[in-house]
Amino acid sequence: MRETQASKLHKILNMEEPYEAQTPNTKIIAVTSGKGGVGKSTISSNMAYQLSQMGYRVGILDADIGLANLDIIFNVKVKKTLLHVLKGEATLKDIVIPINHNLLLIPGESGDEIFAYNDNEIIKRFAKEAAFLDMLDFLIIDTGAGIGKNVQIFLKEADEILVVTMPDPSAITDAYATIKVTNTYRHDMNVILNNTRNPKEGKLIFDKINKVAKNNIKTPPDLNYLGALSQDPIITKSSKYRVLFSEEYPDNLCSYDLSLITRNLLEKMEHKVLVPMERKSFAVFIKRLLDRF
Ligand SMILES: Nc1ncnc2c1ncn2[C@@H]1O[C@H](COP(=O)(O)OP(=O)(O)O)[C@@H](O)[C@H]1O
Ligand SMILES: [Mg+2]
Repeated sequence: MRETQASKLHKILNMEEPYEAQTPNTKIIAVTSGKGGVGKSTISSNMAYQLSQMGYRVGILDADIGLANLDIIFNVKVKKTLLHVLKGEATLKDIVIPINHNLLLIPGESGDEIFAYNDNEIIKRFAKEAAFLDMLDFLIIDTGAGIGKNVQIFLKEADEILVVTMPDPSAITDAYATIKVTNTYRHDMNVILNNTRNPKEGKLIFDKINKVAKNNIKTPPDLNYLGALSQDPIITKSSKYRVLFSEEYPDNLCSYDLSLITRNLLEKMEHKVLVPMERKSFAVFIKRLLDRF
């Protein structure tokens, strides 16, 4: 099955004609945090890889350009980004980088840069150009940290929000702040604890955050615990050598931890399918982002 999808993707990428999708239905997953350096990019890239290995077609958008690092994590060279496309200086196909048969990197820019370009003509052309991405099952967005408007816009348009935090007090406080701000417009959020030191720590911290939220926020968020990723020298080593830990060390505990998180998310999204959800595509997503700004 993977081979067919692979050749399909490559064919699509090399195709001159716009790809006519039947029913674009891309699920958008935004990965965010209160504080930087908590593992957003590590988790987005490895989760994207794991989903791609399950046979899903995945796009990963780097929207944390201040610290542009997905290109480093995937060990590829980025020349042009989404900003060039929005300025009309490149096509989307020029900038998209295939990582494997089912996985594409879409180099982005920080929200500030992207949202400055809201030109109707460009958006129309962009929507046409982006049709070849209609075949994506998932679009994972590695957003910047913090509660700024430019991060929140991505969260507003996402189907699922993943808040990443870790056991240190300032990371927990900042995650709480992100949850509180996001909760003013949507309640459903997922939480991942990274860098945990034992299997129980993640759930304990999550329970504390959840309790504080329930006791202090008038309409409290509906927080879903996806799991914990343990602190692991394999992850540090993998980032040093620019490899994905889930690809290089699939049998290691950290890959197992993350696969549980990924499966929990899939399971949650499958349940949601019972409730009719809006069908989205990359083009629709970008257009709505720009419209909101
Ligand atoms: N579970 C972990 N165990 C060990 N090191 C980790 C873990 N998660 C992340 N790191 C390391 O922490 C650093 C910051 O992670 P990164 O994913 O870049 O954070 P963010 O994208 O939130 O700024 C990276 O060097 C990464 O390798
Ligand atoms: Mg990052």
